[in-house]
Amino acid sequence: MVNSGKIRWIDYAPEIIGLESEDEIQEKMPRDTQYLDHSDLLSILKKAYSSHLYALLIGPKGTGKTLLVQKVAEELKMPMYSMNFSVGIREEMFIGTPWLEDNKMMYRLGVVPRSMLNGGILYLDEINSADPDVLVRLNEVLDDRRQLYIPDIGRTIKAKDGWWVVATINPLSSRGTKVLPEQILSRFGIKIAIDYPSESEEIAILEFHYGDFIREHISEIKKAITLANILRKMVRENEEIIYAPSIRELMAFAALLKAGVESRLALEIALENVYTIWGIEEKRKVGELIDSLWNRGDNNGR
Ligand SMILES: Nc1ncnc2c1ncn2[C@@H]1O[C@H](COP(=O)(O)OP(=O)(O)OP(=O)(O)O)[C@@H](O)[C@H]1O
Ligand SMILES: [Mg+2]
Repeated sequence: MVNSGKIRWIDYAPEIIGLESEDEIQEKMPRDTQYLDHSDLLSILKKAYSSHLYALLIGPKGTGKTLLVQKVAEELKMPMYSMNFSVGIREEMFIGTPWLEDNKMMYRLGVVPRSMLNGGILYLDEINSADPDVLVRLNEVLDDRRQLYIPDIGRTIKAKDGWWVVATINPLSSRGTKVLPEQILSRFGIKIAIDYPSESEEIAILEFHYGDFIREHISEIKKAITLANILRKMVRENEEIIYAPSIRELMAFAALLKAGVESRLALEIALENVYTIWGIEEKRKVGELIDSLWNRGDNNGR
């Protein structure tokens, strides 16, 4: 039972936990996903699914990657099993964890085997932040055999028909972090590059969430989008600014305007103040940029 002083869980035939009930599977099925498919990505992803090709979405934060996959899961009526590797996922967290309860050995299956057993969508967020040992195990699951060996319980989990994998890479936040090994990259049959939406797409998304209010305040909204695009470009071109605002900040700006906050203050709290994190100088630069944009041309935004 005890091998060279190291406890081998398998010798104790642990009870396996994590085989989900129908209710638990239903809970993982996204519903009422508010996604505007402005670039026709939904149909591409569904074609990837029906062609048994795993998909890799490459794009900066806030570009609708997670929503897109939720929408696909909803339309395909599949449960979605998510893991975000930027928070330091260890191997046992996604494969499974042994533990002891009331003197009984148990083994709780992790997200990967549960998704395989239930034929769901395995959504691997920010996969390029995964540790090397995690990538080794992922490489095993992503190969054509579609299976995973779990040494602690001595079982090989085989993926149910329909099991599908979608992963994301966030290129800007990954600066200085690892590049995904080529063998993992090659396991994803399709790669979709998602960039920030164009101005008209961004307006359409904002309208999708805030209705007519956006058209009624289009001058301020357009200026905020212009500001966001300038900051995004500065980040892309390494021009001192580190943080690129996403549509989340623009949505916060619209929400504040809608709640009656004056536009300059709304900009300050939704888009400007974050730069204090990188120093007062950085915030000042962005503040000046905002002032020049807001004073330029018409004064509707004031
Ligand atoms: N195409 C879209 N349709 C509707 N809402 C969108 C769309 N794109 C972005 N949004 C809005 O932006 C928010 C961010 O989207 P989402 O979380 O899917 O981005 P993401 O690319 O997964 O970001 P991250 O890399 O930070 O995880 C959503 O909650 C939604 O409010
Ligand atoms: Mg996401």
